[in-house]
Amino acid sequence: MKVVITGGAGFIGSRLVHEWSAAHPEDTIVVLDSLTYAGHRESLADLEAQHRCQFVRGDICDPARTSDVLRGADLVVHLAAETHNDRAVEGPLPFVRTNVEGTANLLEACRKQEVKRFHHVSTDEVFGSLPLEGTDRFSDSSPYAPRGPYSASKAGADHLVRAWHATYGLPVTLSNCSNNFGPNQHPEKLIPLAITRLLEGAKIPVYGDGKNVRDWIYVDDHCRALDLIAHRGRIGATYLVSAGTELPNIEVVHRILRQFGKGEEAMEFVKDRPGHDRRYALDASRLRSELGWKPMFDFDQGLAQTIDWYRTNERWWRPLLPSSSLAGR
Ligand SMILES: NC(=O)c1ccc[n+]([C@@H]2O[C@H](COP(=O)([O-])OP(=O)(O)OC[C@H]3O[C@@H](n4cnc5c(N)ncnc54)[C@H](O)[C@@H]3O)[C@@H](O)[C@H]2O)c1
Repeated sequence: MKVVITGGAGFIGSRLVHEWSAAHPEDTIVVLDSLTYAGHRESLADLEAQHRCQFVRGDICDPARTSDVLRGADLVVHLAAETHNDRAVEGPLPFVRTNVEGTANLLEACRKQEVKRFHHVSTDEVFGSLPLEGTDRFSDSSPYAPRGPYSASKAGADHLVRAWHATYGLPVTLSNCSNNFGPNQHPEKLIPLAITRLLEGAKIPVYGDGKNVRDWIYVDDHCRALDLIAHRGRIGATYLVSAGTELPNIEVVHRILRQFGKGEEAMEFVKDRPGHDRRYALDASRLRSELGWKPMFDFDQGLAQTIDWYRTNERWWRPLLPSSSLAGR
């Protein structure tokens, strides 16, 4: 089977390519990625050296390039996106271009090339924000209510995917996942930012009061869900992916501090981002009941592995250190 993974040089994409290659060694894996600041071809270097994946540098907004790469593809798993909320607030238009126009272009290329299956990777942020107090969770029938340029552009992409299914019969599946963490995540995101700040002897900046709640999942658990849904998910269906680990950002920071043997003197509160959603939580029961998925990593175990990885892979993250990034997706 020929599988095209867009955004395969990014955080989740590169982990997915590794998982996929191990689980399905018979597949031909082609990575399509334009290598923005968030793409790292070296994350795939081991697989490329063993000819276990092919890398194509290309923009998903480029019709000729995408059509060419998708020729003969059986399955497309679409992760390429602009993903960082702080960057979206500073400059929203690249998010609209890649996430909306790029997805539309990819769908058109799939239609022309008669790709047999298209899996779209999306986020819980399309559903908006839940109240801090309360136990409600988003389900696949929750209305879309994105509140920022990133989530709005991902919501737009989700609608396009469903429209190409309804209008042209493109065989699609969708998934909306909660906050991922793990190795190879850009140090602009909360957990790697906190870890790399501590490794540098600097303080962890925490947005606002730190009470914003996120639903955390270790990246490899998300990748196993993507593999299952892309193979066995019902065509037209949407699966929510969550490990059910809801934690306030300040608790995440405390747990990281504990693993470093440090106290609150190693963190500081900073001014909040505008429109910062308060709480996300997802109901993943369809994924569990229909496809038998369950998470294999608990939060603290995943966190320990992640900290170990950043301790031993300074060469990967040091060149990426942002000058002004703040903690909190
Ligand atoms: N990280 C999370 O917590 C999370 C949670 C839920 C859903 N998602 C979704 O999962 C996907 C991957 O997220 P991530 O955190 O790995 O992102 P990332 O920012 O680490 O990687 C994005 C990748 O897309 C590539 N890319 C960007 N624009 C492109 C373009 N125009 N053409 C081709 N390639 C392009 C980048 O080079 C990079 O390799 C995204 O669609 C994101 O919305 C992420």
